[in-house]
Amino acid sequence: MTELKPVTQTDANAAKPVQKTLPDAQTVTAVRHWTDRLFSFRVTRPQSLRFRSGEFVMIGLLDERGKPLLRAYSIASPSWDEELEFYSIKVPDGPLTSRLQHIQPGDQIILRPKPVGTLVLDALLPGKRLWFLATGTGIAPFASLMRDPDTYERYDEVIMMHTCRDVAELEYGRQLIAGLKDDPLIGEVVGDKLRYYPTTTREQSPRMGRITDNLTSGKVFADLAVPPMDQAHDRAMVCGSLGFNSDMKAVLEGFGLREGANSDPKEYVVEKAFVG
Ligand code: A2P
Repeated sequence: MTELKPVTQTDANAAKPVQKTLPDAQTVTAVRHWTDRLFSFRVTRPQSLRFRSGEFVMIGLLDERGKPLLRAYSIASPSWDEELEFYSIKVPDGPLTSRLQHIQPGDQIILRPKPVGTLVLDALLPGKRLWFLATGTGIAPFASLMRDPDTYERYDEVIMMHTCRDVAELEYGRQLIAGLKDDPLIGEVVGDKLRYYPTTTREQSPRMGRITDNLTSGKVFADLAVPPMDQAHDRAMVCGSLGFNSDMKAVLEGFGLREGANSDPKEYVVEKAFVG
């Protein structure tokens, strides 16, 4: 990809062009395409970058005119990983993802090393059971949080509900969770505390239906043999499309949970999954 290579500028006084490195450039180390709509990629991590699991950073490429084209991406890798991982949708006419989907190992991307976000453990009051509620690429911040030992130190039980249109779109999360128990760094801490509840809505699979419907009908509580959500014990983090987030807020408020923030921890927090 031409836009990922260092920008070449012609110096009026020099016979040869001079190489100028992209500001905040990081190098792509791996790319994996999961479906024709989804891909993940890994990049080098700036040595000084510290982040809290669940936070996002701005990443992107230079556009045709050499201007940075940046979007928010949740960091999917755990904070102890040497590299950074991201999980992205491919929007055919999306200004950034239509080009970002073509990156290859060795290419450069721009990464602004200023992590922020509301999906952090500190934005929730202590509780017993933590629910991660995601549609599509909204699983990305939870891919980080599910690998954070702090998650399991704070909660007795962690439930990852993920809904996609079809089975293939669940695969990124399925493989990650399947590998957790045997992970030498985190496996023991996770133990039996993490429960996974994947569903599809447009293809037959063992578990079906939207997260919102499975919560309001009580199906997920019955399937997992846990009590219905309540303000005293349950905490939730939500990440998906705008429609999902707003419907989900209504469902959680219906169970008596209130929206929190870094500065004002309560029972649930919400973040929009990146699209574009
Ligand atoms: P559905 O197939 O019924 O629309 P998308 O790929 O469009 O982002 O959707 C990802 C998943 O999120 C799909 O399974 C979709 O279900 C579901 N979904 C979309 N909108 C909502 C919503 N408002 N509430 C709950 N689930 C939703």
